[in-house]
Amino acid sequence: MEETKFNQIGVSFKGSGSYVPDQILTNQEISQKVDTSDEWIKSRTGISERRISSSGDNVTDMGYKAALTAIEMANWDIKTIDLIILATSTPHDLFGSAPAIQSKLGACNAVAFDLTAACSGFLFALITASQFLKGGNFQRAVVIGADQLSSYIDWNDRRSCILFGDGAGALAIEATNDFDNLIGFDMRTDGERGSFLNLPSNNNKDLIIDNIDFLTGGFSPIQMNGQEVYKFAVREVPIILDKLLKKTNYSSEKVDWLLLHQANQRILDSVGDRLKIPREKILSNLEKYGNTSAATIPLMMDEAIRNSSIKKNDIIATSGFGAGLSWGAALIKWG
Ligand code: ACO
Repeated sequence: MEETKFNQIGVSFKGSGSYVPDQILTNQEISQKVDTSDEWIKSRTGISERRISSSGDNVTDMGYKAALTAIEMANWDIKTIDLIILATSTPHDLFGSAPAIQSKLGACNAVAFDLTAACSGFLFALITASQFLKGGNFQRAVVIGADQLSSYIDWNDRRSCILFGDGAGALAIEATNDFDNLIGFDMRTDGERGSFLNLPSNNNKDLIIDNIDFLTGGFSPIQMNGQEVYKFAVREVPIILDKLLKKTNYSSEKVDWLLLHQANQRILDSVGDRLKIPREKILSNLEKYGNTSAATIPLMMDEAIRNSSIKKNDIIATSGFGAGLSWGAALIKWG
């Protein structure tokens, strides 16, 4: 019966891909620019180095390369892709960079658009794409997380410049009729606490004619209250994951991997401890890449899939969190 089929639609995970720029910036090298040290950065964050985009590595280029490797793993004919969502806060074109990725891929039958939710962006985009697939209108989607925060950092601010790097990751997901490997999800925002982390308009004024002024385009560097963001993450992430596990009838013992937004190793460990998930199940690659914003979750996932840590049918509890403030969680079965 057609209607029953429609109601049973879920999603499955078919491919992953990622890309990082070649340029490496080590802690040692940052300490030549600002008053910090490898020891301070490593002990407070777990980060040793990060990748920095140069020309030819903007969000469109990085997102394209990540998407292409995900599509290759899925073994899809590119013309069968219906939907491309690019999660980014740093598009190459403020009108949207996803259509440029669509064009580079040759995905001529897809609709492509950007979605902005900072470090929660990939998770929000994955959930958004899954709703389109479950709605029955689209069959195949590519969800990309790509960011180039190096362009928006104050490289003289030691409190924030040590944290971020550039990169991209992508997943290829497909509609299914008989099971759902996105087991559950939740999403939250709290604009009341938005001032803890911003990449705001620079609010510069100019005149069009004598008595008509306008705000020129452009942004100020990232502004962050590190301690408040830290407290927000270690409080809200365990709560949202715990509720999701309860709602889906999964105990934390059934979770094979905890895959959190890669912001800070201390945040990862603290959330793992609160959920009683042992360290060996916590995926982490922030030592090499720092916080790549919307890219961290698919970048980490792709690495763990390609080195065979994540295997078919593994249960992954994932959470993205960051500016907005925004946070979300999803329980995924890989495959
Ligand atoms: N090197 C050396 N000293 C530093 C540095 C640095 N890079 N940065 C700050 N300090 C100094 C401060 O000036 C301060 O010195 P003082 O006591 O003399 O004033 C001291 O270190 C302690 O500063 P805190 O800010 O209290 O350091 P904290 O232990 O909180 O660590 C950190 C800072 C690493 C930023 C931490 O707060 C953190 O990780 N917060 C979360 C931030 C985050 O993840 N943001 C991204 C969210 S995701 C998104 O949406 C983009």
